[in-house]
Amino acid sequence: MLEIKNLNVSFKKGNKKIRVINDLSLNIPENNIVGLVGESGSGKSTIAKAIIGVINYSGKIIFRGEKIENRDLNFYKNIQMIFQNSYGSLNPRLSIKKILEEPILNFKIVSRKAIPNFIKNLMKEVGLKEDIVQRTPEELSGGQLQRIAIARAISVNPKILIADEPMSGLDMSIKAQIVNLFMKLHGEKNFSILLISHDLNLIGFLSDYIYVIFKGEIVERGKREEILLNKKHPYTRLLFESSPSTWKGKESIGKVDINIKRKTTSNCPFATICENFSKKCERENIEERKISSTHFVRCIKTI
Ligand SMILES: Nc1ncnc2c1ncn2[C@@H]1O[C@H](COP(=O)(O)OP(=O)(O)OP(=O)(O)O)[C@@H](O)[C@H]1O
Ligand code: SF4
Ligand SMILES: [Mg+2]
Repeated sequence: MLEIKNLNVSFKKGNKKIRVINDLSLNIPENNIVGLVGESGSGKSTIAKAIIGVINYSGKIIFRGEKIENRDLNFYKNIQMIFQNSYGSLNPRLSIKKILEEPILNFKIVSRKAIPNFIKNLMKEVGLKEDIVQRTPEELSGGQLQRIAIARAISVNPKILIADEPMSGLDMSIKAQIVNLFMKLHGEKNFSILLISHDLNLIGFLSDYIYVIFKGEIVERGKREEILLNKKHPYTRLLFESSPSTWKGKESIGKVDINIKRKTTSNCPFATICENFSKKCERENIEERKISSTHFVRCIKTI
């Protein structure tokens, strides 16, 4: 439903141009959860920002067969975003009621008269008490704020929800509740989710497809079970080895010792720190290899 093709993003640092996303392609099918996982600084949020059009990029972003050029109101109705820090994305001066009303009115979801009842049902759907809407964001807990952010996003019936580190900063038990809420709503409402996280347990638990990103390039992608049970790329293995194997709602991040940096002309993004590096990785063009019709890996030593 949403295709990203050959995405490139660069930022200026002084006189230099630094490429943060390099020729990246990603596909979000209808009614699927796609997990994007990688360490901090790998470019995950940059991809989300390119999709919603708040940064410059080259490449194609295609929604239901049409290249997105101008993002109109309809685009933002179809593609909604949930951020890590909901407090920062909700106007602190407004009541929750006003915060929720805004998109419902903008996108003409229901008539003004029908809004109170609509919000009442919305609160039920995200597991909050009705009277919470009288409060302001600062009067809510992190978990409650995240539920409000989810309520606001789903109120306009989006086709895709982009959730950038949606559980980060929440307590373990609250995290588990929000995970359950995501699963429930995804099952009921038939929208796709692009789930962005460095938390492998979370990604592994929720996603239908997993994309592993390293330094702005996809190094492995496949169906959930292909990635969880048959990891091929050394970076994917490292990421998964360095996190607990079961979902415990715990923060986890792959720790790669980036101090052992090798100088190399290889086009493999992992070559500077890869333990399996050999001269062949430098001689050959490292392209994606097919493991199955849905599983691909960018490493020459996998077959
Ligand atoms: N506006 C910007 N100007 C310059 N550099 C930027 C800008 N935004 C991001 N970057 C750089 O781009 C790289 C990718 O950043 P990005 O925020 O996409 O990473 P991330 O994978 O989301 O990390 P995290 O897990 O910490 O959120 C980083 O090196 C970051 O410093
Ligand atoms: S291609 Fe070579 S350097 Fe790159 S990940 Fe595979 S083994 Fe490591
Ligand atoms: Mg980020």
